Amino acid sequence: MSDTKFSNIAQIIEQRIDKGDYPVNAKLPTHRVLASELDTTPATVAKAYKLLSDKGRLESFVGRGSFVRSQSDLNQVIQAPKDEDDFNFSILQPCLYKNVNALQNAYQVAGERLTSELIGYTEHSGHEAHRQAGVTWAKRYGLEGGDTCNTVLTNGAQHALSLLINALTKPGDTIAVEALTYPGILAIASLSGRNVVGIPMDESGASPEALRSVITEHQPKLVVLIPSHQNPTGITMPEARRREIAAVIKQEDIWLVEDDIYGFLNEAAIPAISNFVPEKAFHISALSKAISPAMRCGYIKAPADKVALLNAHIRANIWLSSPINNIAGTHLIESGKAFEIADMQRETASERQRLARSILTSISCDAEGYHLWLPLPKHWTTEHFVMAAKNRGLIVSSGSYFEVSGNEENHIRLSLMSIATEERLAQGLGELKALLESDMDTLFPF
Ligand SMILES: Cc1ncc(COP(=O)(O)O)c(C=O)c1O
Repeated sequence: MSDTKFSNIAQIIEQRIDKGDYPVNAKLPTHRVLASELDTTPATVAKAYKLLSDKGRLESFVGRGSFVRSQSDLNQVIQAPKDEDDFNFSILQPCLYKNVNALQNAYQVAGERLTSELIGYTEHSGHEAHRQAGVTWAKRYGLEGGDTCNTVLTNGAQHALSLLINALTKPGDTIAVEALTYPGILAIASLSGRNVVGIPMDESGASPEALRSVITEHQPKLVVLIPSHQNPTGITMPEARRREIAAVIKQEDIWLVEDDIYGFLNEAAIPAISNFVPEKAFHISALSKAISPAMRCGYIKAPADKVALLNAHIRANIWLSSPINNIAGTHLIESGKAFEIADMQRETASERQRLARSILTSISCDAEGYHLWLPLPKHWTTEHFVMAAKNRGLIVSSGSYFEVSGNEENHIRLSLMSIATEERLAQGLGELKALLESDMDTLFPF
């Protein structure tokens, strides 16, 4: 059998997956059936399936067959519920109904404050008062050394990540990230032709020794880390680990992007990694997770000599971060309301974590923050669990979306904040518990 034969067959199968002829989670035809359709041998099809399985497109189970795997795709991580009765555990956002009044008020104030200066084109670095608000916000949660000259306004943290990756690396370069990470980073890398390498983690987050080995082996140009309530593992790096990571970055030829979007969820502020290596660090914060993702208010604290470069990218891409949103965000920060809301959301998250532990009694971790990284019992595979949950109106995120190198994490990520009331959350968690305890083989008798 020639190499080209089975790779041609693999290509045909991949095209069918991409076109949706074989949808995600669908069972693929047996080797024999596909071989007769494509006029080849079952052994060639088996080899093609193996190739696609190594590429992460398929998952094969002895005795059950091969199934189409979901790709790390932002659309799938955050899913709009099909039906208003669905329980949506997939979106990491604050408990929004609690913030609506404050937000309406902030936009009313913003409306009253609009002047002709504020509604026109202005410097792409934005207004000084808005940058000062970003400095005040990030300082409260552990960032030192921010000022209006080294702070850049962005349209949220995702924009900040994309801006930094594009400004600091070029296509073909490698970016180091935690071995399990926020798929928004993977999406930027894949769309912009950057390679990604995962840094193995332990219970304190990315390991400094592993970071050093990754740097030696792959020479990444920058490392992106999520130090607080990491998405998806929920790990918060203690100060000692932050110092160790900063020490590695100081010695090596690499930039740090510290995505601290969940920093406000720490009960007591923990010093940012950036504090220990400010000359090489870009620190990201935003109002999306405490107040509302619709505001798109994000802030980068950068080394002073890189601010002009970042602002040149801002100007080329969006001209400037929306001053109207920034007036509302700045009002919330200056009036102290933003911090009150952040405290209230943190408390809501803690109550919901307690509720989750009382229902899903198998949870051994004592996670805080908006989500849980839940290991599945051995009798479930992730993709089957996600599919079975979806069929019951329980929308959860598959652990596979967060994997950098397809290590087969048998986990799901559960957001505890996007379901409006505690009563509904308890109901949804109860249904998840029943599913976790049920037998996959009776639901998928292949
Ligand atoms: C780690 C991390 N960074 C960035 C973002 C995107 O934030 P924003 O809505 O501010 O763009 C998210 C959203 O889930 C996230 O989890």
